[in-house]
Amino acid sequence: MSSTQDPPCVASLPERICIRKPDDWHVHLRDGNLLSSVVPATARCFARAMVMPNLSPPIRTVAQAAAYRDRILAALPAGMAFTPLMTLYLTDSTPAHEIEAAHASGLVYGVKYYPAGATTNSENGVTQISRVYGVLAAMERLGLPLLLHGEVTAQEVDIFDREAVFIEQILEPLLRDFPALKVVLEHITTQNAVDFVLGQSARVGATITVHHLLFNRNAMLVGGIRPHHYCLPVLKRESHRQALLAAATSGDPHFFLGTDSAPHPRHAKESACGCAGIYSAPAALELYTEVFASQHALDRLEAFASCNGPAFYGLPENQDYLTLERRQWTLPAAFSGAETIVPLRAGESIQWTITEEESLRLAN
Ligand code: NCD
Ligand code: ZN
Repeated sequence: MSSTQDPPCVASLPERICIRKPDDWHVHLRDGNLLSSVVPATARCFARAMVMPNLSPPIRTVAQAAAYRDRILAALPAGMAFTPLMTLYLTDSTPAHEIEAAHASGLVYGVKYYPAGATTNSENGVTQISRVYGVLAAMERLGLPLLLHGEVTAQEVDIFDREAVFIEQILEPLLRDFPALKVVLEHITTQNAVDFVLGQSARVGATITVHHLLFNRNAMLVGGIRPHHYCLPVLKRESHRQALLAAATSGDPHFFLGTDSAPHPRHAKESACGCAGIYSAPAALELYTEVFASQHALDRLEAFASCNGPAFYGLPENQDYLTLERRQWTLPAAFSGAETIVPLRAGESIQWTITEEESLRLAN
């Protein structure tokens, strides 16, 4: 926590900002031949990332997590430093001993709860939270955080209400039943979530994506359906975006950076039933910086991006720094590798650039 009080290493002049190197506390890196296209985009600016386990089939065991970690590291360009923090995918039948093994492994930093059917590759997720109470008790005892996709899936609940209903029906009782369990409400999208999280102790945190800070639901629906802005939880109305902006730029330690960068092949997005997920990694940090600059809150970017996450997880802050300059560049319209992937803000100009001095060691 100490560095949140430290002065920024370079005065936060509006044209140039130097921050402790950030981490991404929620990312999808995929697998197979997609890895080599996706991993460098995250590793170029984040020292660590919490890697989501929703592969097909999902990462359910420590052995699978360790093998996946090796594949991620093998996809890193030579000389690029990056630490993947692994997660396990919780199912109705996850055994408590797997949780013990995860904790002992030193590789697994969280357990991901997907309500079955809530989102991409969640069909093996939890069908009823009571079915995993034994496992949650083990996590509470060991201090292993539970990472929540916080949406209910009941057909009768409107998709725009699914996060708020989750908080009432699932999260409130969960926190009562497990008073010491560490919980992250991932990719929050509503004022309800902001208010709820602010009312909790430090054992509850929340990640906020850059796309939920940049866009409201008009960006998905006005002037035609824009599948590259479709993600889950779905974009909400403007008042909710304003609440997220206030939370992220407040410096409050409950809130930290998690891109939820979730690449899909172009054909799977541009389809009659397009899949959920926004690929933000290629300009993620630059876009967060744009958001903080727009709120005159560049002096709070470091807390959100680089300090609050490690404090929540009890991990050390990164010792390297990186510099961002207010200098425009244009993001490619698409990335072609094993698949063509369209990024957030494809073909548009990005206002901030990470400069060459990124690995300059200025600390202590
Ligand atoms: C994610 C994905 O594609 O894996 N999609 C998304 O819209 N965010 C899954 C998830 O985090 O919900
Ligand atoms: Zn996600």
